[in-house]
Amino acid sequence: MTIPALAIPAEKLPRHVAMIMDGNGRWAIQRGYPRLAGHKAGTENLRRVIRSTVEFGIKYLTIYAFSTENWGRPPEEVMGLMRILEDVIDRELAELSKEGVQLRHIGRLERLAPKIQSKVLQAVELTKHNDRLVLNVAFNYGGRDEIVQAIQRIIKDGVPISEVSDQLVSRYLYTAGVPDPDLIIRTSGELRVSNFLIWQAAYAEWYITPTFWPDFDKEEYRHALETFANRDRRFGGVAPVALGKGSNA
Ligand code: FPP
Repeated sequence: MTIPALAIPAEKLPRHVAMIMDGNGRWAIQRGYPRLAGHKAGTENLRRVIRSTVEFGIKYLTIYAFSTENWGRPPEEVMGLMRILEDVIDRELAELSKEGVQLRHIGRLERLAPKIQSKVLQAVELTKHNDRLVLNVAFNYGGRDEIVQAIQRIIKDGVPISEVSDQLVSRYLYTAGVPDPDLIIRTSGELRVSNFLIWQAAYAEWYITPTFWPDFDKEEYRHALETFANRDRRFGGVAPVALGKGSNA
């Protein structure tokens, strides 16, 4: 089967796409707007990207909305991002749920205001049976923090050393039950991982574009998926044509 809008065979589509939505601030500054205007434009774009993801038939989307390091930003920007999360839940939840989107949160809830915590939990509860798209919202998320928490819980559960495996660690992460990302898209051209899904990204393919997040449109998303479909994923093995040449990536 081929996805008509894409001309990519379904088996060549990523099951899970993750996105580092970077460049909102620079998008705003370039236009002489305050940084928060960039986050608002970024939120509008997020709405379009979610719609395209559903249309493309991708089953899992993870978005990096607020990192454990983002608390270091000016207080008005932190407050603004908190308000955006609240607004997105208030205004978009019914529509997202109607579209069959299951919302999940990854990250630490406890540092968020109680009102936001309960909104997030309600949104997760309300959409838990939807199955068209699983949308993981990484908010107050850090990859190292996630791994540290997993180790703490593994020890607390008294798991014997002989049972600690790759699969067991995965089951202790926020993303338990979600396949690892196949494709990670990073906008605004930075060449870093920024503490995002550092365990899960072991074999992800990267698509990095200079485009700022608010301008990352459906055409470029399609291009990223086409680029992915043409990648040769070897998972540490060797491609049939490359046999004998040796590669460990
Ligand atoms: C990075 O751009 C972006 C963020 C830290 C926030 C991303 C948030 C959104 C797109 C809004 C959607 C949010 C929710 C809660 C659903 P930057 O500010 O670091 O840009 P810069 O590198 O150009 O300064």
